Amino acid sequence: MSRNAHPAGPRHGDVLPDPHPSGAPADLNALDPAIWPVSARRIDGVLNLGGASVTALVDEHGTPALFLDENDVRGRARAYTAGFPGVDVYYAGKAFLCTAVARWIAEEGLGLDVCTGGELAVALAAGFPAERIAVHGNNKSVAELRRAVDARVGHVIVDSFDEISRLADVASEVGVRQRVLVRVTVGVEAHTHEFIATAHEDQKFGFSLRDGSAARAVEAVLGAPSLELAGLHSHIGSQIFETSGFEVAAHRVVGLAASIRDVHGLQVDELNLGGGLGIAYVPGDDPESPKQTLERLSGIVEVECAAVGLRVPRLSVEPGRAIIGPSGVTIYEVGTVKDVTLDGGHVRRYVSVDGGMSDNIRTALYDAEYTCVVANRGSAAPPMLSRVVGKHCESGDVVVRDTWLPSDVRPGDLLAVAATGAYCRSMASNYNHVPRPPVVAVGDGRSNVIVRRETEDDLLRLDTGIDR
Ligand code: LLP
Repeated sequence: MSRNAHPAGPRHGDVLPDPHPSGAPADLNALDPAIWPVSARRIDGVLNLGGASVTALVDEHGTPALFLDENDVRGRARAYTAGFPGVDVYYAGKAFLCTAVARWIAEEGLGLDVCTGGELAVALAAGFPAERIAVHGNNKSVAELRRAVDARVGHVIVDSFDEISRLADVASEVGVRQRVLVRVTVGVEAHTHEFIATAHEDQKFGFSLRDGSAARAVEAVLGAPSLELAGLHSHIGSQIFETSGFEVAAHRVVGLAASIRDVHGLQVDELNLGGGLGIAYVPGDDPESPKQTLERLSGIVEVECAAVGLRVPRLSVEPGRAIIGPSGVTIYEVGTVKDVTLDGGHVRRYVSVDGGMSDNIRTALYDAEYTCVVANRGSAAPPMLSRVVGKHCESGDVVVRDTWLPSDVRPGDLLAVAATGAYCRSMASNYNHVPRPPVVAVGDGRSNVIVRRETEDDLLRLDTGIDR
């Protein structure tokens, strides 16, 4: 059955895990530093984040809540810029964006990738320097383009012929020459350890290299006096651990840059290789460091340019998950614990928490895997294979499909799920009218609500059938 198309109802209820998790960890209280934020540690058994115990944090902020280790975010952002003056780094705001995070990113010297008018509005509300904003999207409206051009954003990444002509009109009305990157579909799709180098043309983003659309898009941009070709863009996927997919992408984009030189006598100034750099969600995930990644990408681009005698353009990247993913930890409270006997006599333990698919849809949507621990106390109880589920009225409402938890887990315990900083709160919904959790920045013993908890009043405010 396709993982993206399944009927509502029981899902995988009869299958025991393979290959994760392979066996119970030696110590259920351990916190793998590759997975947890830098500040995560246990003190007297209790998980501490940003110098505060989660029990104190929960007393103050309630559950479920997403805690974001500010120093961890800033440290990861800095790791991408430190030592690489020749590379521009844009944080991909789709991973998670609010004004506080936009300000941290601005202070750390990165640019910002926004992909909707809403993300642009948050960036501008934060006072993010417009010249460091890059605007993405395969269907930007005229109003969105107008707002971007009015704000004088640095780059618009154009994605269709319709958009090129719309943007040219908007820029000439406003009286500016808008710098653009042409988004190229390079025929590479990469996920984690493997990539497909030829077959991925059939999707909505970008201009295809294979059918000549990319070269025509470049011509269309060069033919519009209100647009300036700043460079080329490619994004090949997400949660990638291997640079081989980027190698093929760089080879193909550099090929286009060389033909632009040959046909138009023009040097392309910038090559943006997109985002997609992977993080560790479960033990054994082994992503490269930012330094290794940027060294390799720079090396790849240099080699490719040398092969066609092209001056090396400025390299840019757009990591989202790799900057904010590992910094976030979601804390839930356990409400019920239920043991279900499966065919064959196996027992599966269902641990229900007070959130679920409305605050983390990734498990249901992508079969994503997570690491989770009991957070309010250490436990020496033996491990029990457990499934952490939410409170939604749907069997697919799973937070962690298979995990080892101490067998004494009980209602009132706090569960911490690691690496939820990216694509959890940003993809959250109000399914079943469950209000979305707050985002709380932690660091140096302090906690600061940066997105407050949604309330039932917030939900009812949109309902016009209520007398006020
Ligand atoms: N640049 C572009 C053009 C993108 O489309 C994306 C992600 C990124 C950068 C950032 O990718 P990252 O470094 O965060 O992997 N909702 C999915 C991920 C979808 C990403 C879409 N584009 C998830 O939860 O895994």
